[in-house]
Amino acid sequence: MPYSIQFSKGQTDYYLKSSFLDLPKIAPLAHAVFLIDSNVYELYKDLFIHHTVLIIDAGEQHKSLSTIHELTLRLLDLNAHKSTFLIGVGGGVVLDITGFLASVFMRGVSFGFVPTTILAMVDASIGGKNGVNIGLNKNMLGTINQPKFILFDTLFLQTLPNCKWSDGFAEVIKYACIGNSALYHQLANNNLVNFQSDSLLLQNIIEQCVQQKNKIVLEDEFEKNLRKTLNFGHTAGHAFETLYHLPHGQAVTFGMIVALIASEQQLSLSKQIRTDFVNVLNKYQLAHLFDFEVRAVLEILKHDKKRNGETIDFILLKSIGDAVIFPLEFDAIQSALQIFADEYKS
Ligand SMILES: NC(=O)c1ccc[n+]([C@@H]2O[C@H](COP(=O)([O-])OP(=O)(O)OC[C@H]3O[C@@H](n4cnc5c(N)ncnc54)[C@H](O)[C@@H]3O)[C@@H](O)[C@H]2O)c1
Repeated sequence: MPYSIQFSKGQTDYYLKSSFLDLPKIAPLAHAVFLIDSNVYELYKDLFIHHTVLIIDAGEQHKSLSTIHELTLRLLDLNAHKSTFLIGVGGGVVLDITGFLASVFMRGVSFGFVPTTILAMVDASIGGKNGVNIGLNKNMLGTINQPKFILFDTLFLQTLPNCKWSDGFAEVIKYACIGNSALYHQLANNNLVNFQSDSLLLQNIIEQCVQQKNKIVLEDEFEKNLRKTLNFGHTAGHAFETLYHLPHGQAVTFGMIVALIASEQQLSLSKQIRTDFVNVLNKYQLAHLFDFEVRAVLEILKHDKKRNGETIDFILLKSIGDAVIFPLEFDAIQSALQIFADEYKS
């Protein structure tokens, strides 16, 4: 049985601890079109033999309007109509593309998700945000629209490269930091290999993250306030990602360190928390040493969507599990970036 959530525009059913083989019971397959990541398709093509499939080239660079244009033409070739049901199978890139295309194709068709990366299971599939990049501007065009279902099958993760596991765990660590200190202890007492070898342990933390994100999204679906806490590590993180082409999770990890330093400066967070945090990062094979140019990162931050005059709303921590939205002045941002640059040179 799924657990279901009623959002403002409709209900989403979450099939946690599920199997892809259950899909016929969940989705209207007779009029479904699958949008599948090219790497996932190569690995799992046998699963799609009897289905209508459109392949999307893997990679963030394909999260673009030209992909949306091309997919629209291919849907028209397939005589897709208002009752066509789109099913995205892949990581966050394919799910963002599927959610956006479904939201605008013929002014909106229904869609569902089968996330195949940790990051997509714990984050990108949840909450209804979707979109595509315009040049270097991430997620510049998008909508907020919920899928009808999300099916979680952790068997897909068996083929996920190690670095992508780490990437996903950066978001798990984020959830723990902003609102779940018990999860933080669980992460501190385990390591990546424990989760890779124990599917029940893994499913348990995926479920915790899904429920935590849903709780936040339900309270603040359109990101007026509480939902912003999900951006912990993401403000500086996005700037690192854009400038240095880092994987999303690794960039967010560096962003979380910057946010911890700012939390020490603004909210007297103990420095010991940062030391412990770096130990947790090591357990999930996430780097903490990084060479970058403070000035270049600040330039990117000056164009951040969240800028409000001389401040940007950063998510800071009062303690592990207790996040606050804090308007951080550019001088303070610069100071936190400089400490990160000085203390964590490789
Ligand atoms: N909509 C949201 O709320 C939200 C939240 C967080 C992130 N995102 C977006 O998600 C994207 C990142 O997602 P991601 O990290 O899943 O990246 P991704 O979709 O690029 O997938 C990562 C890589 O893993 C491969 N892959 C996927 N599943 C696999 C599997 N089971 N086995 C082997 N290889 C597999 C893909 O081909 C790709 O090369 C970014 O575009 C980010 O902006 C969206």
